[in-house]
Amino acid sequence: MRAAADSSVIRPLLKWAGGKRQLLAELRRDYPPDFDRYIEPFVGSGAVFFDLHAAGRLAGRRVRLADVNPDLIGCYRVVRDDADAVIAVLRALEREHRERGASCYYDVRDRRFNPARAALGDRTAAAYTPALAAMFVYLNRTGFNGLFRLNRRGRFNVPTGRYINPRICDPDHVRAVARVLGADGVTIECAPFETTLADAHGGDFVYGDPPYAPVTRTASFAQYTAGGFGAFDHARLRNAVVAAARRGATVLLSNSSAPEIEAAYATPDAARAGLRVRRVPARRAINSRADLRGPVDELIVSNAGTSRGRLRMAKSGLCSRYPDQLAAAGTGKGQA
Ligand SMILES: C[S@@+](CC[C@H](N)C(=O)[O-])C[C@H]1O[C@@H](n2cnc3c(N)ncnc32)[C@H](O)[C@@H]1O
Repeated sequence: MRAAADSSVIRPLLKWAGGKRQLLAELRRDYPPDFDRYIEPFVGSGAVFFDLHAAGRLAGRRVRLADVNPDLIGCYRVVRDDADAVIAVLRALEREHRERGASCYYDVRDRRFNPARAALGDRTAAAYTPALAAMFVYLNRTGFNGLFRLNRRGRFNVPTGRYINPRICDPDHVRAVARVLGADGVTIECAPFETTLADAHGGDFVYGDPPYAPVTRTASFAQYTAGGFGAFDHARLRNAVVAAARRGATVLLSNSSAPEIEAAYATPDAARAGLRVRRVPARRAINSRADLRGPVDELIVSNAGTSRGRLRMAKSGLCSRYPDQLAAAGTGKGQA
């Protein structure tokens, strides 16, 4: 099964913490010129997926999208399979929101969305309904910064945002997203990254965008799921990424420039897998303290084009110094 060609530009359906639209120009530098299959294990709002789609880079290719958030995946699947039903509920929510604003938001969040998703138990991703998908989109468009955050009891608890006139229902956009997600060859899974990365191999292009490692104790948002994403998860991810690169996959990864992340990828085994690290300036909007939202560096780890680059370096005698160069690449400017 293969993805159909469609060159129209379609923006992501959702706002998402850590969404990568602002980093696209940097990431594009490492899109491989050719690949057979695209894999995105932390898809979120899918900024890179939609970017590749808009550039026509996914035409005729298989695509594997995954995320561990069952509401997100449930929403995508329902939009894909029943866009009109989602649009009908979204229209009604838009009307209600125009009349009642924040009181509508809290009513939907506490009396409709949370009870309905709690009733699904462990079957959230598989059993999502058009009503839940529409509420998920509504809460995303009208809640604070589009965050998705659960409390300890597993209830969605994001407060309302301060939007004057939020665009809640755009039927053409929802239908366009449904077509992109429903193209031949596109699969959408609720799965942890290890599962998604396990079979990445030569010919695959993997883009990984995990919850960022904190650069200070308070400056990062990693609570997409009840369990969060800690140092142990980052270490397991690193090993999975190095293994995928060694199996021949082209890997592109973004993360914060936390020193331990930079050090973890600037190692001899990562270098042998062709992985290089570079810092790029970026801006994050998640922190509730405005003074911590300024420009900060992010890391991009990639082995795109490495085989050719290493060949050139081997000829020029630079290859044996490669790991040192990687370490040197990690000495950019400090954190904001
Ligand atoms: C930084 S966001 C990805 C943002 C995405 N690139 C975009 O453009 O919106 C990280 C994502 O990783 C997901 N996630 C967290 N832990 C995960 C895990 N163990 N396996 C797979 N996905 C996970 C979160 O649900 C979240 O959607």
